[in-house]
Amino acid sequence: MLPPELSAAIAELNADMSGGDLARTVAELSSQYRAKARSRPQLTATHRAAYLAARLPATYAVITRVIREAKLRISGLCVESMLDLGAGPGTAMWAAAEKFPDLSRVVLVEDLAGWVEIGKRLSCKSGSSAIRNAEWRQGSVTGELPPESFDFVIASYVINEIQMQDRARVALAAWQRTNKLLAIIEPGTPEGFANIRSLRRELIAARAYIVAPCPHANECPMETQDWCHFSERLERTSEHRSAKRGELGYEDEKYSYAIFSREPVALPAARILRHPRKHAGHAEFELCTTEGLKRETISRKQGERYRTAKKAEWGETM
Ligand SMILES: C[S@@+](CC[C@H](N)C(=O)[O-])C[C@H]1O[C@@H](n2cnc3c(N)ncnc32)[C@H](O)[C@@H]1O
Repeated sequence: MLPPELSAAIAELNADMSGGDLARTVAELSSQYRAKARSRPQLTATHRAAYLAARLPATYAVITRVIREAKLRISGLCVESMLDLGAGPGTAMWAAAEKFPDLSRVVLVEDLAGWVEIGKRLSCKSGSSAIRNAEWRQGSVTGELPPESFDFVIASYVINEIQMQDRARVALAAWQRTNKLLAIIEPGTPEGFANIRSLRRELIAARAYIVAPCPHANECPMETQDWCHFSERLERTSEHRSAKRGELGYEDEKYSYAIFSREPVALPAARILRHPRKHAGHAEFELCTTEGLKRETISRKQGERYRTAKKAEWGETM
């Protein structure tokens, strides 16, 4: 769920749009994102309003989940500063401020003036001084990044919007600015995963330690016709539901991601790659492990292991 002050600030910004206009623009925005092959979607001011109503809740939920995965692996993780690349309305900053209570310095890089303006208007409604005092820098992530380094650097749903030939360079520049953690999130599509897979290889070669989702730093074992992705379920508010003209009270946002650390991190034995199939007395799992991809059936006879496995879900570790 979005912080109430962010929801209220979005409702205020979008107050001039009728429900019908918003829903029509959301539909147009979705088809822009679906149709975009390798080019960047061209968003008008009304598309940006639609993004706030319909996309931001989903990317916020995913970023929150990704930060939670990092915190599960690194106990006592303290983040005081962050750099958000391709910030849009500042979604990642809002999520990070909820999850990292020590956050005090935020720098956001975004090249579109329209987003910077909206981001600032939302920020000033926040109760968090880190958000209110955030520094917005209008510029391209493919250009010079801020020279200082940050505890947490994030590139959320942006790598796929920059030219193919710039992607690795931007990820390595982001890594150079990282004191502790770098998170890269992409849509949970074959293309989004292909970006994650190739940047993972580059970053591991640059001595970054993988934190999640992979339980190892070996070459990614995912088969070429498949893609590693996860799904985050988020509740839809009534505004979100009507903007999407959706009946359901929730939606599932698919994403691919990788988190890297400056310090080595203890990795789990396995990550669950699909919804487990749970039957009476046994459960079947598709796993990524240090020995590659594996199918495992865990039965009631395995006692404690079965009791734990029964509760495990797609995206979690075992
Ligand atoms: C899909 S939005 C994601 C926004 C936000 N990170 C989130 O997760 O909700 C992608 C953002 O990246 C920005 N962007 C794309 N290419 C960029 C570039 N070369 N430099 C800076 N920002 C860029 C877009 O303007 C847009 O705001």
